[in-house]
Amino acid sequence: MTDKYDRKKVEMEFDGMGEDSSIVHWDANREDIITTVGRKAMDLLDLNKKDVVLDMGTGRGRWALEISQKCKMVLGIDISNNLLLSAKRIAESRGIENISYFRGSFENPFEEMDLRKYRINKIIAIYAMHHLTDPMKKRAVDNMLKILQRPGIIVIGDLMWSEPPENHREKWDEVYYDEGDSDFPSSVEYLKNVFVSSGAEVEYVKIHPLVGIIKAKFV
Ligand SMILES: C[S@@+](CC[C@H](N)C(=O)[O-])C[C@H]1O[C@@H](n2cnc3c(N)ncnc32)[C@H](O)[C@@H]1O
Repeated sequence: MTDKYDRKKVEMEFDGMGEDSSIVHWDANREDIITTVGRKAMDLLDLNKKDVVLDMGTGRGRWALEISQKCKMVLGIDISNNLLLSAKRIAESRGIENISYFRGSFENPFEEMDLRKYRINKIIAIYAMHHLTDPMKKRAVDNMLKILQRPGIIVIGDLMWSEPPENHREKWDEVYYDEGDSDFPSSVEYLKNVFVSSGAEVEYVKIHPLVGIIKAKFV
């Protein structure tokens, strides 16, 4: 157990994940905690055909693929080159033309592309941000706000504690918590405060004592 973010380690872990891994699968209908959170988070985006959406920590593009059917354009960013390659192949094989994938991170969304030119008005991040420590999450939200057009919406669906995690030890595997090896979930209160202090109207949806969704509306 460490209490430090190690990007190289996270990157290598995800680069090495096979196509059948549930946590980076492309199928939004596989039943588990990630799809439960992702589908609800997608609803909360209130998508329409004019929206340009950024999916941060897109993985194999599970949510980018779903969202692309309901909006104008989706941009997906991730730190794993292998997952990005896989995501590109899947979108191509389905003939989907309104998704673009780039290398980019919560720490620096612009690693490959300056995303500001796309006029992004909605941002989603599913089960990806919990790899960051609390101060890094605050800086990640600041980065999102450099990209987001107003009015805009950010929806984060992830591990987040509304109760002490020790009280739910038997659920750690089910919610994919790695006991602090490379997962650093925040409390719901911390995440809510990050968005409130950035001027958002915030709604919290509890999925599980260890998993939830935060919707932040910026007018
Ligand atoms: C559990 S997977 C979820 C993938 C996808 N959102 C989904 O729901 O299928 C977490 C993803 O976050 C990505 N990730 C981890 N740390 C990241 C960071 N600092 N910046 C961007 N992406 C990151 C990983 O590479 C991985 O693709």
